Amino acid sequence: MDTKARIEAALEEAVTQATLAPCPPRLSEAIAYAVFPGGGRVRPGLCLAVARACGDPDPALANAAAVAVELLHCASLIQDDLPCFDDAAMRRGRLSLHKRFGEEIAILVGDALIVMAFRAVAALVTASPAKTAAILSVLAGAAGAPAGIAAGQAWESESSVDLAAYHHAKTAALFEAAAVAGAIAGGAEPAAWRLAGGLLGEAYQVADDLADALGEARRLGKPIHQDGDKRRPSVVAQLGIEGAGQKLDELLDRAMQSVPECPGRPDVEAFLALTAERLCPPTLRVAR
Ligand code: IPE
Ligand code: IPE
Ligand code: MG
Ligand code: MG
Repeated sequence: MDTKARIEAALEEAVTQATLAPCPPRLSEAIAYAVFPGGGRVRPGLCLAVARACGDPDPALANAAAVAVELLHCASLIQDDLPCFDDAAMRRGRLSLHKRFGEEIAILVGDALIVMAFRAVAALVTASPAKTAAILSVLAGAAGAPAGIAAGQAWESESSVDLAAYHHAKTAALFEAAAVAGAIAGGAEPAAWRLAGGLLGEAYQVADDLADALGEARRLGKPIHQDGDKRRPSVVAQLGIEGAGQKLDELLDRAMQSVPECPGRPDVEAFLALTAERLCPPTLRVAR
């Protein structure tokens, strides 16, 4: 099965489990809406690319880890779009979850997805206790405080913000977790993979800041000019368009160079190259 089909099948399984009777029908519908159809599925793609590069000795655990990072990501998008955060009406080219189902359901779907993420991995504890415990711990770090997504979003409520800490927590931490969880499932030493995942995650948020400043809302499927309008700290505000473009290139180069030696290294490099291509906003591509 190719990676994309593997991710979708594993997500289907997790969503089916969580939406069986007696789940309230609107909650069931909203959980499925939050997960399908997906966006780029970049984080689970990274997780499985790393697991495969390490020989993929435990595919069930790799799949569960990939599902978990994508569910945590989907939850973060719901929260990010709420009126108390970015107040975004569109996500992935259609109504954001709270616009479609209301804020009460949106908050509950966010909670449910986070719990589903941990449950997907915890289900394998008997088969692989040590690896499962390690992955759960990595996921918890990426999702919560002091330096995961919850902390990242919380920086927006502070009067002074360190941009690197903000971006690392809100975005790069989950990329690190995706790479590390893939390495753990693959039976590899995770430290080097953490570096590669974190650099890709940093690049990803720089590209998102650029897309916010330059992008077409229709192509992105979400509102643009949010950072400027909401006075969010951003790489574009700090370095300008040109500087942010250079930073994006540097981070992608460093991510590529940091991929550890392993039999599947070329596959991970190909994944990074494809992601890099997708990341560069077309306006910037034309300008170069
Ligand atoms: C959007 O992430 C939020 C950021 C951290 C930049 P993605 O661009 O990966 O969102 P989807 O999953 O493809 O919609
Ligand atoms: C992305 O925040 C990080 C999240 C935890 C969702 P943004 O506000 O920059 O992401 P988009 O541009 O709405 O996808
Ligand atoms: Mg935001
Ligand atoms: Mg946003």
